[in-house]
Amino acid sequence: MTKFRRIAGALLLLGSLSLFGTEVEVLHWWTSGGEAKAVSELKNELNANGYTWKDFAVAGGNGSNAMTALKSRVMAGNPPAAAQVKGPSIQQWAELGVLANLDDVAKANNWDKLLPKQFQKIFKYKGHYVAVPVNVHKINWMWVNPAVFRKAGAQIPTTWAEFKVAADKIKKAGFIPVAQGGQPWQEATIFESIVLGIGGPTFYQKAMVDLDAKALGSDTMKKSFDTLRMIKSYTDKNAPGRDWNLATAMVYKGKAAMQFMGDWAKGEFSVAGKHVGTDYLAVDVPQTSGSYLFNIDSFIMFKQKDADKTKGQKELAKLILKNKFQTIFNVLKGSVPVIQGVPRAPFDDIALRSMDEINAAAYTHSLLPSLAHQMAVTDAIRGAVFDVITKFWNSDESSSDATKALVNAVQNEK
Ligand code: GAL
Repeated sequence: MTKFRRIAGALLLLGSLSLFGTEVEVLHWWTSGGEAKAVSELKNELNANGYTWKDFAVAGGNGSNAMTALKSRVMAGNPPAAAQVKGPSIQQWAELGVLANLDDVAKANNWDKLLPKQFQKIFKYKGHYVAVPVNVHKINWMWVNPAVFRKAGAQIPTTWAEFKVAADKIKKAGFIPVAQGGQPWQEATIFESIVLGIGGPTFYQKAMVDLDAKALGSDTMKKSFDTLRMIKSYTDKNAPGRDWNLATAMVYKGKAAMQFMGDWAKGEFSVAGKHVGTDYLAVDVPQTSGSYLFNIDSFIMFKQKDADKTKGQKELAKLILKNKFQTIFNVLKGSVPVIQGVPRAPFDDIALRSMDEINAAAYTHSLLPSLAHQMAVTDAIRGAVFDVITKFWNSDESSSDATKALVNAVQNEK
């Protein structure tokens, strides 16, 4: 066979493959090692069920680049079939009347029974399902390299006072105490856990969810900024602009002792072949034990003109909440299943702890939505809060000025 005929044959085959199933275009921001591995399972599931996954990946942790890309596609009248959107933003998209109603898939697959009651309202608009959740991530984790702690003769801290003692020892031993990236959402991720630890769950709810001006302007908030400043002094000079997964790598490579990050970090440890218990540990951010800051990833589906595409979306929604997908995806992603009754055996100790903690925290009113990860407030308010935290982090602004700025920023956006 001539080279030309071989190439022509290959092209023909490719053409027929893409005709094989209706394309379902999916926007997401899962591009780090662990994230990409997890999302490829969703792609495989969809393809195995007769559709063709069209990848619309927009790099950038926490999704702000992805959200910008989504807005411009919707404004151009060409939305993807599905997009990774979560928290109150789901309601905002639904209000525009652009989302598909998923009630028939939900009914046929028993979502009202499968999904925990306390989470259901996040995915419904005026009582109708408009989003399908994928997982539950916990935010208030601290990832630890035990070998670095050993070498420095330091104890793993459970309070901020103990943290300071340990961090000083680690620094003295020549390691970076805290691996930190330099992006507003990463700073906000630490800050909200500090607020939870210093103020407790009731205070967190008042300040970060209800946006109560008294709580936002309180002494507790000022103390939280003081703690953020203290943590910054234990980060390295190259932090600005660093991606979160590179910070995780600093921990597993033994350059740094700790990272404050949600449990998608576990996906990075796994991809690097690291084992929990020996190579790394996951403990609660100091002073937050018993509370659980949750972050639920989900997909919204945009109304389609083409009936086949609508079918494809519904197939995707259905597959996401099946036990099989909930298991493979969450094991790779570092999160836990969002539905009840998924067998526990395939999950590691960190995930099992997380599953149990969700139930326990719900019972004690300590299961709280993450502000940093789009679960607590609208994007506009979240952006205003991020600006205040980031300005403080990147300057020598005082904690009382930052506290005042926080009250004003929230007030202006409300
Ligand atoms: C979060 C998202 C996680 C993870 C992380 C870093 O907001 O919920 O799934 O991907 O960003 O990109």
